Amino acid sequence: MPSAEQIISTRLAAASPIPIPVELREATRKEFGHFQTNLPIRLGRELGISPHAAADRLLCQADLSDLCLPPTIAGAGFLNLTLRPEYLAECVHALAGDQRLGVAPDPAPQRVVVDYSGPNVAKEMHVGHLRSTVIGDALARILAFSGHEVIRQNHIGDWGTQFGMLIEQLFEEGIETEGMSLQALSAAYRQAQAHFNADSEFADRSRARVVELQQSDGRTREIWRRLVDISVSAFDEIYRLLDVQLRPADVMGESAYNPDLPVLLAELDRAGLLKESDGARIVPIPGNAPMIVRKRDGGFGYSATDLAAVRYRVGRLKADRLVYIHDARQALHFEQIFGVARQAGWLPDRVPAQHVRFGSVLGENGQPLKSRGGDVVALRALLHIAVQAAVTLLADRSSTADPELARQVGIGAVKYADLSAGRSRDYVFAVHRMVTLDGDTGPYLQYAHARLCSLLDRAGDEPGQQPTQQPTQFTDPAELHLAFVLTRFPAALSDTLATLEPHRLCGYLYRLATAFSAFYERCPVIRADGARASRLTLCSVTRRTLATGLNLLGICAPKSM
Ligand code: ARG
Repeated sequence: MPSAEQIISTRLAAASPIPIPVELREATRKEFGHFQTNLPIRLGRELGISPHAAADRLLCQADLSDLCLPPTIAGAGFLNLTLRPEYLAECVHALAGDQRLGVAPDPAPQRVVVDYSGPNVAKEMHVGHLRSTVIGDALARILAFSGHEVIRQNHIGDWGTQFGMLIEQLFEEGIETEGMSLQALSAAYRQAQAHFNADSEFADRSRARVVELQQSDGRTREIWRRLVDISVSAFDEIYRLLDVQLRPADVMGESAYNPDLPVLLAELDRAGLLKESDGARIVPIPGNAPMIVRKRDGGFGYSATDLAAVRYRVGRLKADRLVYIHDARQALHFEQIFGVARQAGWLPDRVPAQHVRFGSVLGENGQPLKSRGGDVVALRALLHIAVQAAVTLLADRSSTADPELARQVGIGAVKYADLSAGRSRDYVFAVHRMVTLDGDTGPYLQYAHARLCSLLDRAGDEPGQQPTQQPTQFTDPAELHLAFVLTRFPAALSDTLATLEPHRLCGYLYRLATAFSAFYERCPVIRADGARASRLTLCSVTRRTLATGLNLLGICAPKSM
């Protein structure tokens, strides 16, 4: 079903004597269902007539009376269009029977590779991985809902010289890695680092250990594999705690590209991109430091594996589009990776590659979030604090403590705060402002959803699933406003997709929840005689839209709270 916006735009475009793209804006006026366009102004300018005369000409040709109340012309010649109550009722009726809530699947579905999270082996996930994980997962869900085939890739840092010193440390201390936790592993890692810096003989033995790791498939390799397993299962625990859809099968770490690297080097060479510099193999980047593909010691680094990943994702996975969700500090890295990959022929022009960047998570002092000791904060600890706050929040409301509900609320709060913050901005991690029912928060939206569930439950049957006999009808401005907001869900999603900015969907859901609150304050539902069926339909579509929207953000929508 085309949206009102689409129908009106098409008709106005057809009515215009010269082709002018029609821009319809949703007006911020209080009235429900209100659009505005400056088409008369632009048309008048082109034709050398007044905007009012241009508007008359347009309205003579375009009949909008089935959708809109009689249009008015305002200000310098803006055309104001208000949707008819009957039309809005028809829309809500249609939404009630539509699983997808008016969202048409993309007519040209693509295979999209989404690269997000990417933590590092033998280190706990820290706050720096929160945004990539949460934003990436929301975008992956939204792309999939829009009809695209999404392939998640977790490019974990599982290779490099640091594993030489860690394994050497484990051997020398006689530490048994079987059954070891990631926390203990991270502690050993820090010790190994200190040891490496203080003891040059240990440093030498560590370097020899790297060579062994790279060249033979013996005991060293076996320990390394165990380190990866311990880490991946700890990451999996966090993903499950976070309701993030990444699974161990999505892990395609740096080491996975090792076999491709010699071929990659040869192909770069054949493309004439490779230079030798001081024993290293590099790709010169005009105006910048060169990209080091193979280091002097023969090792390959971060850039080489990322080039190999592009080559694999397009060549083997047959991606139509690549999306990377990583922090803004990696902007130059990805720009260069995409540039070199295009030159090498691995990333053809028909495959767009995007680095979706985001700002930092700050502490309440406005500085990057650090623990008191100055270390980065473990993500696990941070999430635990939020879930604890949810336990307190819920304890104030009911006597039964449900740990799963507290998890859903605490985690939902963290995710919503992150997603709604606006991608490119930094935001302050303040648990007391996230885990609350007041204002633009995850728990507020979850609560609106839970209220709707209990309301519909009390009403007996959830209408809208089966066709109602009575026609849907709205008269109260609050009903009409809620109805209008419901029809805007597809627009909110396409906005989010076009910009890859989840805060647009957050803003929409908050608007929907407040429209529902306003409606519910004014309009009785269960005890409304004539309006009961129509209002229950409104409630049912609102509930489903909130649940769907929250799910697309990766936030649970519990039935009661
Ligand atoms: N391991 C990296 C880090 O912790 C992130 C990996 C990002 N993904 C990529 N394809 N480079 O910063």
